[in-house]
Amino acid sequence: MQHTERLAQLREAIGAAGLDAIAVIPGPNLVYLTGLHFHLSERATILLVPRHGRCAFVVPALEETKALSLPFDAALFPWPDADGPATAITAAAAILGLGGKRLGVEGRRIRFLELDALARSGFPPRVENGDGVFATLRMAKDEDELDAMRQAVGVAEAAFAATLAFIRPGVTEKEVAAELMVRTLNAGSGELPFQPIIASGPNGANPHAGAGTRMLAAGDVVTIDWGATVDGYASDLTRCVVIAGAEPDPRLVAAYEAVRAANEAGRAAARPGGTGQDVDRAARQAIVDAGLGAYFIHRTGHGLGLEGHEEPDMNEGSLVLLTPGMTFTVEPGVYIPGIGGVRIEDDVVITADGSETLTTLSRELLVVGG
Ligand code: CO
Repeated sequence: MQHTERLAQLREAIGAAGLDAIAVIPGPNLVYLTGLHFHLSERATILLVPRHGRCAFVVPALEETKALSLPFDAALFPWPDADGPATAITAAAAILGLGGKRLGVEGRRIRFLELDALARSGFPPRVENGDGVFATLRMAKDEDELDAMRQAVGVAEAAFAATLAFIRPGVTEKEVAAELMVRTLNAGSGELPFQPIIASGPNGANPHAGAGTRMLAAGDVVTIDWGATVDGYASDLTRCVVIAGAEPDPRLVAAYEAVRAANEAGRAAARPGGTGQDVDRAARQAIVDAGLGAYFIHRTGHGLGLEGHEEPDMNEGSLVLLTPGMTFTVEPGVYIPGIGGVRIEDDVVITADGSETLTTLSRELLVVGG
């Protein structure tokens, strides 16, 4: 989609939210809107988009050249290091008439640095959380965005397949993570969306375990959660493997079957007109039916796109209506303290009449390292 079209949509959303303007700082929203990558640093960089009229862009002077390639018209307010940003921010607030107006900000991203500078400008706005404004635009992906996400899934899957031969008794979680990261980058990923989780044996009971110094042992169930990016769009997958040489704990094998059924049920419930709550309830029911409900301790999934976690949530209370193009994960899990855990995570897109699962890897509990 053209960035001028996105700007027009953003202005509509600003109006619909009852705001007068929105402030955007370096990060995924600025990339979405402009296609430009600015560095989030101690130097204030703020794009101000009013409901009507010309945008204003406060940028450090050393970034002015980049700011000149904005895909739409904006008044530039470059500020040199020697002066600091205060004068530039006041001038930008003045031409937008921000004083006392309702300014949406990125609630999960903006810092005291920018909020304080806006409050101290000669024209302090009334600041509100504007996260929902960008979320409404970014949730449903266009064809170009979906193409990037399909590629990000493909890259992650190729890296996983190439890493399997490396996973065997005696290697550590960290060594597996390093191998998987190198393979992911070599398969064509941009910056990784997050560090892989390699959680073996009892470590699997922690859904957000990292990758530690534990050595893999025969019979371990190992949870592997990783992803890739292509053109800034992320994939996010999880698969479990068993280390050959001993039988895995039967409680984890039973949990795995329940989680596989839950993953299937969650994906089947993903359709236009449904909600994230429907997806969560469908997946959760399968785990409750197996008597393991107390061990499924997180939401079923999260939106995926320019960020590894974005809207919409697959969660109790998530009542956003799913529409074609929305992309998210379905990742039920079971975590048994002291024993271990299992999770199966797929990436899904809502289609006109249901959903499509972008991930193609097998969901069998693979035995590796034999
Ligand atoms: Co995830």
